[in-house]
Amino acid sequence: MKIVKKLMVFVFFSLSASAMAEAEKSLEIEVYRSPSCDCCSKWIAHLEQNNFKVKDFVTNDVQTKKDEMGVPKNMASCHTAIVNGYVVEGHVPAVDIKKMLQLKPKIIGISVPGMPSGTPGMEMGGRKDPYKVVSFAKENKQQVFTSYEGK
Ligand code: CU
Ligand code: CU
Repeated sequence: MKIVKKLMVFVFFSLSASAMAEAEKSLEIEVYRSPSCDCCSKWIAHLEQNNFKVKDFVTNDVQTKKDEMGVPKNMASCHTAIVNGYVVEGHVPAVDIKKMLQLKPKIIGISVPGMPSGTPGMEMGGRKDPYKVVSFAKENKQQVFTSYEGK
């Protein structure tokens, strides 16, 4: 009986440890951005404030990364990021990245196309444009992931 109890405690701890390792790992994100991009650095700061570990890759050819990762033309923004095999394009809020990592949908990634004002890293005073986080998948399937209202 004692042994069983010990075993159960052991199993419990090793499970929670691996769950923690998983959560830790999933928050590692690679960001590809151009050296002159100011809003990119602000978005990286937003990620870091939300527990992401950012690997910052500065490059003059972000487009090659977008092509390589299958970012459709109409989904393109300034920076391209990769987390757990998913693409994150543009000024996507950290909360949506976490939602995607939890739901694990069968998509290539999510994007905020263009650079709407009021998105994380694109703060323009109090101005907020309405915008959508859009998911994109194979065969150019695109779907609204989250809608944000303007103000
Ligand atoms: Cu930007
Ligand atoms: Cu950027």
